[in-house]
Amino acid sequence: MEKFFINGQKKLNGKIKVSGAKNAAVAIIPATIISDGVCNIENIPNISDVTLIGKILEKMGAKVRLTSKSSLEIDPRGISSSDVSYDLVKKMRASSYLLGALLARFHSASVPFPGGCNFGVRPIDQHLKGFSALGTECKVENGIVKIRANKLAGSSIYLDIVSVGATINIMLAATKANGLTIIENAAKEPHIVDLANFLNSMGADITGAGTDCIKIKGVSKLSGSSYSIIPDQIEAGSYMVAAAAASGNVWVENVIPKHLESISAKLQEIGVKVEERGDTIRVVRSGKIKKCNIKTMPHPGFPTDMQPQIAALLSTADGTSIINESVWDNRFKYTDELGKMGANISVDGKIAVINGIKELVGAPVKAIDLRAGAAMVVAGLCAKGVTSIENIHYIERGYENIVDKLSGIGADIKKVVEPDEDFFEKAL
Ligand code: EPU
Repeated sequence: MEKFFINGQKKLNGKIKVSGAKNAAVAIIPATIISDGVCNIENIPNISDVTLIGKILEKMGAKVRLTSKSSLEIDPRGISSSDVSYDLVKKMRASSYLLGALLARFHSASVPFPGGCNFGVRPIDQHLKGFSALGTECKVENGIVKIRANKLAGSSIYLDIVSVGATINIMLAATKANGLTIIENAAKEPHIVDLANFLNSMGADITGAGTDCIKIKGVSKLSGSSYSIIPDQIEAGSYMVAAAAASGNVWVENVIPKHLESISAKLQEIGVKVEERGDTIRVVRSGKIKKCNIKTMPHPGFPTDMQPQIAALLSTADGTSIINESVWDNRFKYTDELGKMGANISVDGKIAVINGIKELVGAPVKAIDLRAGAAMVVAGLCAKGVTSIENIHYIERGYENIVDKLSGIGADIKKVVEPDEDFFEKAL
């Protein structure tokens, strides 16, 4: 079993570089399926979610080749079937993007349902509503989503909920539909804009990405393209919060400061200095941090994917902070883990009340999902003593080389392989 061990309360100092955005990569890689040529994608983060989606495409018949540490060449022309097996997709939520991409290319797709996750049910009704509006028949049979269209025709779709996944899937499906598709109440996250830019670089005609109204004029063909993925907003935000938690003076490099405004604003509100310089953000903390209230919202609001990390930081703030999680139903389970380190957090449904304490104390804790895992790292960095974190595969889904990156700015963090507790029993 692999664990992280963090010996906390080391001051963080220096420069840390952010990798390409996970949530853009896991949309852009499936989007290559629609292309009629070879795609070169740069600034690919070296994380397990990306490896997995690359393998899925490869098993489907695409040629996928790493051309450098962070560049992937994908030739999707060998993909001949629109059926995806359960074994291929069971580990990955973002496999739902195969639906939109395969629908655009083959006018049909059969993909096992992505299912739930550790922070609530993850329905896809808005994805299916979009596909239906484009003229697709959709059914879910034995956990498999089956969609088929004779032809895809542009349409107007008003999303009932601002959904990143539905916006992406409809954009993918509509790229080669006949006529104009309009998505109203669309999500505005940076990776939606990145996907639109990538599709446009292949010859798609998409305007309005980044606003709540996206227009997609169908085109008949997409060429290959070379494209570089944007920096990861949430990885950057996580390191900003880590720097604040560990009384750091840290330059977070390779960021788009505009994408980080909601996070910078909260850090400033609690007394942390945040300074922008080009594609770098400097975070400096000296002294105690103040309480604050946060409501997570779709972009440009405060991201739900930063909620656990900022909660870890606020657990030692001066006073009581309130976090209202408005995107996911059940994203506070990790607070039990922070409780093991002494945090005083009470949760009622989608509200968490954090009574700031003097300091966290290192303890054995678990990552219960990706961002909850990042919160354990933040907590470990500022806690007194040693924190061990189990289930680090969750963290490695989304943070490239986190141990090396944090060690590079002075954290005392190690990845340790421990014998599996059942090892001896299994060996008998
Ligand atoms: N929803 C519906 N119906 C749908 C789709 C969504 O009711 O058809 C609801 C969800 O249950 C949720 C809300 O709408 O309450 C927002 O869900 P959304 O579709 O926006 O989320 P997603 O596309 O499944 C992406 C990110 C998540 C991030 C959310 C919200 C990717 C691969 N995942 O998920 O990222 O939390 O948007 O910003 O882009 C992460 O990176 O750790 C992560 C979980």
